[in-house]
Formats: sequence, C-alpha cells, structure tokens
Amino acid sequence: MSIHLEAKPGEIADFVLLPGDPLRAKHIAENLLENAVCYNNVRGMLGFTGYYQGRRVSVQGTGMGLPSHMIYVNELIVDYGVKTLIRVGTCGGLIEEIKVRDLVMGISASTDSAIVSKTFSGMTFAPTASFRLAQKAAENAKNRGLDLKVGNILSSDLFYHETVNGDSYAVWRRHSTLAVEMESAGLYLLAARFGVEALALLTVSDHLITGEHVPAEERQLNFTQMSELALSLAV
Ligand code: HPA
Repeated sequence: MSIHLEAKPGEIADFVLLPGDPLRAKHIAENLLENAVCYNNVRGMLGFTGYYQGRRVSVQGTGMGLPSHMIYVNELIVDYGVKTLIRVGTCGGLIEEIKVRDLVMGISASTDSAIVSKTFSGMTFAPTASFRLAQKAAENAKNRGLDLKVGNILSSDLFYHETVNGDSYAVWRRHSTLAVEMESAGLYLLAARFGVEALALLTVSDHLITGEHVPAEERQLNFTQMSELALSLAV
C-alpha cells in the first residue's frame, strides 16, 4: 500500500500504461487485457493488472495535470518498483502540421509548470522520453501503418489559458511545439530522477488553431489504436 494506491506488494506489473481518465484505464483493462484484476479504487482512480500477449502489464489512471499525475508516477516507481511507464492521453494540436486524429509522440516535453523550474532553481531542465522506447514505438507504429508525429510537446498547468494580449501559445508555436497536454513533463522528470523509462503517446482530440474537436466515439477508436501501440512496447 502507498498513500494513494491500495495495491498489495506485487500486484502492479513493472510495465504500466497511464491514461489520465480512470474510466479509460477500465476500458483498456476490459478490452485489451486478459484476466485483468482491479487493484485500486482509492479516489476512484482505477488501476488494473492483466496480460497482453502473455506479458503482465498494468494500467493506472492518474488524473489531470502534473501534480496529480506525478503523485501516481512517484508511488508506482518508488513503492511498487515500476520500471516502464507509458502515458496514453489526448492533446490539443498547436501547429498547422498537426491535425486532429493524429498520433503524437513527445520525445521531449516543455512546460510552463513551476514544478520543473523550481526543482532546478530557475535553470532549464529538458524533460525527455526514453530513447529506447521512442525508437521501439516508431518502429512498431511503422509496422502497424500508423503515421506517428514526433517532436516536442507542451505540458501546461492550464487548460483554460487567459489571453489578455493575444495568443498565449504563440511562443510555443514559434518553437515548433506540436501539441499541448498537461502531464508528460512531470512523467519525464520523475523517470529521469528515478532512472526508469517513460514515453508519452497522445492522440490529437482538438485543435487550437481550427477549433475542431474529434467526436467522442471516434476519440475512443483512436485511443484504442494508440493503447495497442503502447502495449506493443511491453512485448
Ligand atoms: N489543452 C490541454 N490539454 C489537452 C488539450 C488542450 O487543448 N486537449 C487535450 N488535452
């Protein structure tokens, strides 16, 4: 048991998928895993362990934003010995080259969060994905005929940005940032701290230039395809 997870020692696999939404964790467990067992219901933040192609894997909801996400990631690594963590989430497209429904891999995650800048006393740390996982994901995506867009993403503390003087994302666009979400920089920071491997895979659910949104049913389909790609990294 840890502070936010009620799993007994050994109940969580060393490879964990991390959706923000706990109901997505349930959906992955019920549809993509075999013999999945729920190990956590504290705060309704569902976690399951099951099997994917014979490999024992877990899927754990984390909530939204760096603070919530980092609580679960920290406990998974420190209290349960997790070695590989794959965030599976949605993001908003920031630049024209990225379209809704695209599959994005964040090889790095910039952030406006004070969590990273404070950790480094104002100096800049570059939260980075595991090269091994990124390479394997790129290979597996190619084999599955998936067009993976790879680059820097923004992990923002805010979903609703206040735009007093125009475009609050302009400087990120100017520096080729593909998409915005709210967790991955925290995941990469902790992976670096504890010497484990992490990767963020995201589907573009909405676009901040065009204002497009992917309808819910279609979002689920894209999410399942991406979750299968994430699970293929365990095999
Ligand atoms: N902003 C932040 N996170 C997101 C978005 C967004 O527009 N879309 C999906 N996750």
